Parts: sequence; structure tokens; C-alpha cells
Amino acid sequence: MNYVRNTWYVAGWAQDFAPSKPLGITILGEPIVIWRGADNVLTALEDRCVHRLAPLSLGRCEGARLRCMYHGLLYDRTGAVTEIPGQDLVPPHARVRAYPVCERHSWVWVWMGEAAACDSALIPPAVGYDDPNYILGHGQMDYAAEARLINDNLLDFSHLSYVHINSFGATEEWARGRPKVTPLEHGVRVERWLKDIAHSTTRISYAGPGERYTRYDFLLPGVLLMTGGAFPEGTSERLGGAAPDLDLALGAVTFTSQAVTPLTHKTSRYFFSWGPHIRHGDATLRDTLMEIAHKAFAEDRTMIEAQQRVIDMTPAPRIMPTSADRAITLFNQMVAKRVREENAALAQARIQGVGAG
Ligand code: FES
Ligand SMILES: [Fe+2]
Repeated sequence: MNYVRNTWYVAGWAQDFAPSKPLGITILGEPIVIWRGADNVLTALEDRCVHRLAPLSLGRCEGARLRCMYHGLLYDRTGAVTEIPGQDLVPPHARVRAYPVCERHSWVWVWMGEAAACDSALIPPAVGYDDPNYILGHGQMDYAAEARLINDNLLDFSHLSYVHINSFGATEEWARGRPKVTPLEHGVRVERWLKDIAHSTTRISYAGPGERYTRYDFLLPGVLLMTGGAFPEGTSERLGGAAPDLDLALGAVTFTSQAVTPLTHKTSRYFFSWGPHIRHGDATLRDTLMEIAHKAFAEDRTMIEAQQRVIDMTPAPRIMPTSADRAITLFNQMVAKRVREENAALAQARIQGVGAG
């Protein structure tokens, strides 16, 4: 799988990790068990007992430790076995891998790369449902498709005009216009001004005339953070197409955070939240938006899973990019570069390891 490893992947919604209830998830093909101790501290370990490979996610929490419920090996938070029932000696190699894990912006994040490179400053600045400025709903769905296809979908909103006619009510303005795309250190920024707000979800919360600005950052490994709002007619021209001050929006200011996590090579999990700014909506609007989001994301899934099936039937799949693919190309080039660098560093470490041995 060609995904960046030295980055934080979303493993789930924080509220779904109840104290002393281990949950299993596979990320980048690696089975991981995550649990919240009675002290609220999260731990993430390889979900595979060293004894006979039973999943530790079927285990039992005992204070800060986790017991494999097949034959009872007990693990501490570092992944070390601390007890083998009926055996005094615990071999020093009796341990599973521990992953850095943390809770932020209502998500639980797991660092999949080198522990030495782990940096919590790299967690994307998502907006959690505990943020006092927004009234957010949230959800998730599983895909029988590669995560990179979902990333590509989120990097090119020209599909809104065709995939989401019935949910977002998007017109062809999305497909016919080209957004401003700006490379960022860890992703890309995509900005658009749209003249037609009559046929959009903006209408649900803002009835007056105006135009609409949308902006999202798509950040490694696959996190979309999007906001925008309605502005007086002529604003985009007055600003020369630049970004407006969202505090001056007439209405329809919302925020959505979305994350794509590769589970295995051909399966993925998609997490999303959406809702209005407190000055531009309420819980009823949030619920309406989430209803639309569920419908829209099901439309995406139908298309992307079907696309995956066609790709799987194609002997040597090749694509033909259009000018709408600029953000996809930039982001995928960034991923490819980081993967190359990580692979080179791993190969170097291996050579040095062999040399030292
Ligand atoms: S498989 Fe875990 S204790 Fe035997
Ligand atoms: Fe979509």
C-alpha cells in the first residue's frame, strides 16, 4: 500500500472508546487494539497475541493492562507481557508493538510510522464536536475500495455536479469552474467562489441574494477540513477572487471535518462531521445537513466502489487526468514523494542494522 506512514490516522470517534472496552481496527493492513483505561488514558497495541495470535481486542481490561482472553497472557501499556498464567518466566521478547495514540478534535489518532518521528504537532487542526463555535453532527461509513480513490474524490469537487445532483443540489457551476489550488506544507488548499447559491445547501440556512465562498484544506494522510459562507453579490470581484473574512459572512457558515483511513489494501473507513457555526444555525439545521451528508456520501460510495470494481477488472489501469485534477495530482505527488523518502530511510536503517549485526 502506497500510503505515508509517518503521519496520524483517524482510528475512530473518541466517544466510541468507552473505558475498559477494547476496540479492534485495522489500519494500513495492521490489526490494532485500542482501549481507554479506567483512568481515561488511551493505549494502542498490535492486535495479535504473541502466544497463538488471538486478537487482543477480544481481551479484558484489568486496570491499565489488557489480558488476552484465549489463554490469559497479560499485557501492559508498552506492549510487554507481564504475566503468563502458570509460568514464572516471561521471555523478554514477549511483547507486541505499541503505537503512539492520542485523542484530539473528537477523534482518536494513531501514529503508524517510526515512534522516533512521532510529532503531535502534525495532527491536522480538525474541528471536534466539542468546539463551542460549531454545532456538529458526525458519522462514519465503510468502503469496499482503496482509500486513495476516496482521497481523489475529495480533492476534486467537480463531481458534485453529477454525483450529488439529488443530495447537495449542486449545479454544473462546480464542474465548469476551476478552483484556486494552493500547495501547503502537508497538503493542498482548494478555494472556490460560486455565483449560484439558489441551488445549493446554502439555501437551507440563508435565503437572501449573494454568492458563496468555499475553502478546504486536504491534509495528510487524508483529512479534509472545509468551511465557507454566503456573501453579498460582487464580493468575489471586489476581493479579486481572494478569501473573504468569514466573520463578515451573511450566513450559511458551516464546518466539516472528514478523514479517510485505509483499513486494508481495498477497504477504507470514512469519518465525517458537519454543522453550522453557532451564529448561523442551530441543532435543527445540523440535523438537516447531516441527513443530506449521509445521502451524498452514500452517492460517493456507490460511484467509488463501482469504480474500484472496474479498476480491478482492468489489466493495466491508466488514467487520463483533466484540468480539474490539479489538486489530486499535487496531493498524490506529495504522497509519492513522502513514501519514497520513508522507504529510502527504512532501507538505509536496514543496511545499517545488518552492518551493526
Ligand atoms: S493466544 Fe493469547 S494467551 Fe494464547
Ligand atoms: Fe462527493
